[in-house]
Amino acid sequence: MKAHIALLPGDGIGPEVTTEAVECLKVIASRFGHEWRLEEAIVGAAAIDATGMPLPPATLALAKTADAILFGAVGAPRYSDPAHKVRPEQGILQLRQELGLYANLRPVVCFEAVRDTSPLKPELLEGVDILVIRELTGGIYFGEKTRTETRASDLCVYTVPEVERIARLGARLARERRGKLTSVDKANVLETSRLWRSVVVRVMKEEFPDVLLDHMYVDAAAMHLLRRPSDFDVLITENMFGDILTDEASMLAGSLGLCASASIGASTRGLYEPIHGSAPDIAGKGIANPYAAILSAAMLLRHSLRLEREAKALEAAVVAALSAGVRTADLKPRGAPASTRDAGDAVRAALAR
Ligand code: IPM
Ligand code: MG
Repeated sequence: MKAHIALLPGDGIGPEVTTEAVECLKVIASRFGHEWRLEEAIVGAAAIDATGMPLPPATLALAKTADAILFGAVGAPRYSDPAHKVRPEQGILQLRQELGLYANLRPVVCFEAVRDTSPLKPELLEGVDILVIRELTGGIYFGEKTRTETRASDLCVYTVPEVERIARLGARLARERRGKLTSVDKANVLETSRLWRSVVVRVMKEEFPDVLLDHMYVDAAAMHLLRRPSDFDVLITENMFGDILTDEASMLAGSLGLCASASIGASTRGLYEPIHGSAPDIAGKGIANPYAAILSAAMLLRHSLRLEREAKALEAAVVAALSAGVRTADLKPRGAPASTRDAGDAVRAALAR
């Protein structure tokens, strides 16, 4: 097939890890007989430096016309001062909103070969396979904001359709997995959570009576993710809770550097990004872990291009690289750590076999 893929590497380690993912996509193209048109654009701090805007119109136009977007990371210390009005992070937030990417799929998988990198006891990690679906275009991230000298506010808003579509997506994906859906909220305190819970209950009762549903307060969920992680199958939650819980859950996988994500909406056009940030402290050194970016490229093949065989091949190649002991510095290497390029090369070598 032919596909048009937008590359938005962004800031910090974004470009380094995206490069490795792109090289893997090229190997997939030649091995499976596809043709990619790859087009790069600036976003985040790099775009503010060049244009004054974190999401320049040309980048947005490209994102809106491409079949899929491979995204790196945004954020830079030079823009982290709270006084800055224009911030790199606005680049990704605007992209999510403009493209209507309302659901963020974040799989949390424990790869056998790197189980020792998790700070949790190995016996707790047995059978851990969680799919977190984070609502991505609503809630406190996008509500009205106010700020005076002495007071600030961020409004948290949810509407019924916004919750319905997440509940339906979660239930559909749960059906393809172990048939269990956990909805996480704070319904004992927040009105938006009470709306969330009642909508989830209704949708599940009317449309998905076969899916096993339970509810958990977000504080309890944070605890149970560490206490009995293998009990979770699909977890749905609102934007902010999902942001926090997935960084926590990455410790089940062993490293943020192993966690991929897919942001999807009503069409097949999606945005794929590692859940780690720009990691400015290690940027430019060639030591960042590219596996999450490569696994994000696999999600791109699966969700936007509907190339399941190719997605599986790429995922299997990552597993092969990990099993061969190719570990970047974040993965507790036994000897000298692999470089970003070494890890990408190991995946491509496995793809070629
Ligand atoms: C994420 C990130 C973003 C978020 C930032 C960079 C705006 O933390 O994708 O998890 O908070 O959504
Ligand atoms: Mg985050």
